[in-house]
Amino acid sequence: MIIFTKTQELIQFREKQKNISIGFVPTMGALHQGHLELVKRSKQENDFTYVSIFVNPLQFNDKKDLENYPRTIEQDIKALQSIQADALFLPDFNQIYNNQIVPDEIDLTYLNLILEGPKRPGHFEGVVKVVSILFKIIQPDKAYFGLKDFQQVKVIQQLVREKNYNITIVPCHTVREENGLAMSSRNTRLSEEGKKKASLIYKWLLQSKQMYQKGIAIPEIINEVKHQIHQNKDFILDYFEIRDADTLYDNMAGIKKPVALIAVYLEGVRLIDNLELSDN
Ligand code: PAF
Repeated sequence: MIIFTKTQELIQFREKQKNISIGFVPTMGALHQGHLELVKRSKQENDFTYVSIFVNPLQFNDKKDLENYPRTIEQDIKALQSIQADALFLPDFNQIYNNQIVPDEIDLTYLNLILEGPKRPGHFEGVVKVVSILFKIIQPDKAYFGLKDFQQVKVIQQLVREKNYNITIVPCHTVREENGLAMSSRNTRLSEEGKKKASLIYKWLLQSKQMYQKGIAIPEIINEVKHQIHQNKDFILDYFEIRDADTLYDNMAGIKKPVALIAVYLEGVRLIDNLELSDN
């Protein structure tokens, strides 16, 4: 695996790669099986796969969260080598933000008004900035993103659509622990007990799916699941909502493909997850 720490070196290397398909998996490190599945998929679908690891300060609205974000770079490099990722981009702040590459901006009005938007002011702007810079450096044909960050996938799809990037965004299914907990770098901040308790998040999502498939009305599902979350004193509910998976609209008449989205705090760690309710 080639490791690039300098943007210019990667650009020069990339210029020589002609007539091969390029896959890209952007990450912030602390890699888990979910990330590795993205890399494996990219390897299956492309001739050459780049992975980036960059903890992007611009997308952290909470300074503490940035400080506490797990950093396990040596372990990450070993994991990427073991699955034969072709190249790793490991830039520092200046290599991303002081390199002449102009980031793109998009109108995030709607996506900033819902779900994660109001909870994390500036977060999606930061994601758009870093991803647009990374796309310009790496120029992939396909880029792979986990659906655990459901709203982030929508933001990236909007970026690609509005800026006419010639990149296919490949949303990939959430990888779960045996107990159902969605894999996330933030899980490392939970105690063993916390990890067990956190399996309830997936259970609540599954419960909403069962209710939906029995024909129970969406507002009733939302009330019931929220009631259960509130009864459990280990969790603080941030939101539990059911929206349309394509548009993220929540007007009942417009919901064709419902997705339940949840954010909770457990042991002071903010966890998010989601589940499409009409899937088999
Ligand atoms: O999902 C993430 O890990 C980050 O938001 C991303 C896409 C790597 C941008 O920093």
